[in-house]
Amino acid sequence: MRRVFLTLGALALCGGIAAAAVVGFGLYNVSARQGHLPGVEWVVHTAFKQSVRLRAPEAKEVPGDIGNADRIKLGALHFQGACAFCHSVPGQSRSATAQAMNPPPPHISEAVAKWEPQHMFWIVEQGVKMSGMPHWPADGRGDEIWSVVAYLNAVPDMTAQDQTALTGDGSGAARCSACHGEGGKSINSYVPRLDILTSDQITQALLQYRDGTRPSGIMQEAAAGLTDAQIDRIAGRYGAAQAVSDQAADKTQTDHAGAGLAMRGTDAVPACTQCHGPGRAADAPIAPVLAGQSQAYMESQLKLWRDGHRGGGVRANLMAKAAQDLSDAEIAAVAEWFAGLDHAADAQ
Ligand code: HEC
Ligand code: HEC
Ligand code: HEC
Repeated sequence: MRRVFLTLGALALCGGIAAAAVVGFGLYNVSARQGHLPGVEWVVHTAFKQSVRLRAPEAKEVPGDIGNADRIKLGALHFQGACAFCHSVPGQSRSATAQAMNPPPPHISEAVAKWEPQHMFWIVEQGVKMSGMPHWPADGRGDEIWSVVAYLNAVPDMTAQDQTALTGDGSGAARCSACHGEGGKSINSYVPRLDILTSDQITQALLQYRDGTRPSGIMQEAAAGLTDAQIDRIAGRYGAAQAVSDQAADKTQTDHAGAGLAMRGTDAVPACTQCHGPGRAADAPIAPVLAGQSQAYMESQLKLWRDGHRGGGVRANLMAKAAQDLSDAEIAAVAEWFAGLDHAADAQ
């Protein structure tokens, strides 16, 4: 018995020395031109597939608005800047350089063919180790990942014309106005409008996206390359020097489910209008104006604050307190109430 153990020990030692030699003397060829040894490819790919199936969320987690046209468009515009240089888009072929990766990123039409939405969610959130497939760059932003998955889910039925209708002919990152609309008056219900913010609020948001303290995989991508001078210029272009005076709360809106919380608050939650208006003096913009803002955007931000993922400026702790006790239903109601208010900028 003792001899068996000694032999096994000696073999293990030789194996260890051989492995160290292969690594230490550079004998293992890392060239991307070399395929894997026979069988390794199968092992790696099977491990990938099974790992995704084991860890992906359940099918019931897929949001009901996965087929929403605005959500698909937002996903498509992000994909264009962040993913298309590896996976291409429907109707176009992959670049020669992308195809020279090992493993090569599949064309997006092939990539989505074998997966359900919940699997794609996991792949986009987590990435794939040792393959070049990146993970989502921001934590706690499942809402954004679902927008990308909304697009991936629509890819199998898409023609080259459908793709052009979503993102235009150009390649590379989408322009600010492709998502936020001309003049920042967003036409996409999943994207915030910028025309109701002040220049200072826009500058603050862009600086925080750029340094990652306000987590958003979509806006971190859009802001990463901006210089301070560009940020100043953009903030001046979209934002107002002073908060645009908003109208008093529309009287017809007072029987809405969100109105009580917004205008009076509860024992646990302060009245939102105290800080956000309507009715707050325009020259004291303590917090961004919300009248007419995108409902989906406000909902996502309130959940981020409540769950501790939003980050934000010097006054962000005020908002974290205001949001900490809100239920999903209260968030939906109050966001719908603010979104339904007219903003003075709309009347111009
Ligand atoms: C630098 C190149 C690169 C970028 C950028 C990239 N991917 Fe990938 N992706 C890959 C590679 C390589 C694989 C294959 C992984 C494997 O098979 O092991 C992959 C796999 C995938 C898959 C699974 C397909 C399959 O079955 O192999 C999906 C879905 C996907 N990527 C979506 C995306 C999305 C969405 C983005 C943008 C947020 C993105 N990728 C960005 C390289 C990239
Ligand atoms: C692919 C679509 C897309 C592009 C391109 C894009 N944005 Fe955004 N933007 C969004 C989304 C979605 C959000 C909400 C992000 C979040 O949840 O924090 C956002 C948020 C913002 C905000 C914060 C608004 C607020 O109320 O706090 C500002 C400011 C902004 N974007 C400015 C810009 C500028 C300037 C550019 C161009 C350099 C740009 N965006 C490009 C989609 C986009
Ligand atoms: C004590 C003041 C205060 C109260 C009360 C308050 N907020 Fe805020 N809110 C803020 C501040 C300050 C910010 C901006 C934080 C930042 O810059 O990071 C903000 C930001 C927001 C934003 C993001 C706006 C954008 O453009 O990104 C939303 C949405 C929001 N609040 C909703 C609400 C709702 C709904 C309520 C009521 C339940 C509420 N707030 C109550 C101070 C307040």
